[in-house]
Amino acid sequence: MSETTRKPVLFSGIQPSGQIQLGNYIGAIRNFTLLRHDYDCLFSIVDLHALTTRQDPAGLRRKTLELAALYIASGLDPEENIIYCQSHVPQHAELAWILNCFTYMGELSRMTQFKDKSARHKDNINAGLFTYPVLMAADILLYQTSLVPVGADQKQHLEITRDVAIRFNALYGDVFTVPEPYIPKATAKIMSLTEPARKMSKSDQEDSYIALTDTPDTVRRKFRRAVTDSDAEIRFDPENKPGVSNLLVILSVLGGERMDALCTRLSGQGYGVLKEETAQAVNAALAPIQERYQKLMADKGYLTAVLKNNAERAQMMALRTLRKVYKKIGLYQLP
Ligand code: TYM
Repeated sequence: MSETTRKPVLFSGIQPSGQIQLGNYIGAIRNFTLLRHDYDCLFSIVDLHALTTRQDPAGLRRKTLELAALYIASGLDPEENIIYCQSHVPQHAELAWILNCFTYMGELSRMTQFKDKSARHKDNINAGLFTYPVLMAADILLYQTSLVPVGADQKQHLEITRDVAIRFNALYGDVFTVPEPYIPKATAKIMSLTEPARKMSKSDQEDSYIALTDTPDTVRRKFRRAVTDSDAEIRFDPENKPGVSNLLVILSVLGGERMDALCTRLSGQGYGVLKEETAQAVNAALAPIQERYQKLMADKGYLTAVLKNNAERAQMMALRTLRKVYKKIGLYQLP
């Protein structure tokens, strides 16, 4: 990421909580790999966000390294892109504090993810869960980000990020780049295999999602059990046939076949064929990722060195924005 060949900045992050699942891959990581040459990219392991729900400390450490390995195994390049851990760049938390003072309680109260998560974790509705979107805004604005590829569930958080940036800029001049979300419709929301009206999520029960580290047999078994419907017609109709449509989306994206062509080819076939083909496409996509992942996980020294070096690169960019912010809002500067 040299000064002379500056491209627009792309930022995205994934929480190292639970197992990384197919929705994370199709909705986020795969798009990162497709965009990564056209932008100066930062891909963060957002461990501070993960703390908004209780984490087992040893598990969090392990999942952090696993996510670093998965990013690289999926085709992101730690030489060209910046793959780093959020807590290794203290400027995220520092900017989050400032932005807290420019974000309204009313805005945060409207966030559907806060409402969902506080309903699910009634015993732990902590302030971090409430201000979660502010830390996310800090992640993004810290790097003068132009583009943020995410799944549909993050759309509202991107909107609040934009609102905060616009509000801040209106008060202090053009401090932040106002980021655009990148949420392609086809990959925006991969659904649960067992409850296809809900999105696939790493916090649900195991049969509902495909983990990127699932074995080929497990993948096949989970797809065989995937909930469909009883009218036995292969047709893309997310509203009335969410289960079948979800399998078609996964197969179309990973198999590289257009939806209309795919539906024509499979029309008249049984759901067994659709499930088998989808499982095969998923296994074909995961095989090379898993192979690289195993090698990377066997070399923790390499992964740690990558995280260290990349955090330093991220800090240089982050400091530039943070200094500008401190100066603009009137924090006394030491020489
Ligand atoms: P997280 O860790 O829940 O999910 C990571 C990414 O995967 C996408 N995703 C999905 N996409 C399609 N279908 C699904 N079923 C599915 N499940 C998850 C998410 O939309 C996300 O893009 N708050 C974020 C992490 C974050 C972040 C950021 C993202 C923190 N700071 C700054 C972008 C920019 C989160 O919890 O994602």
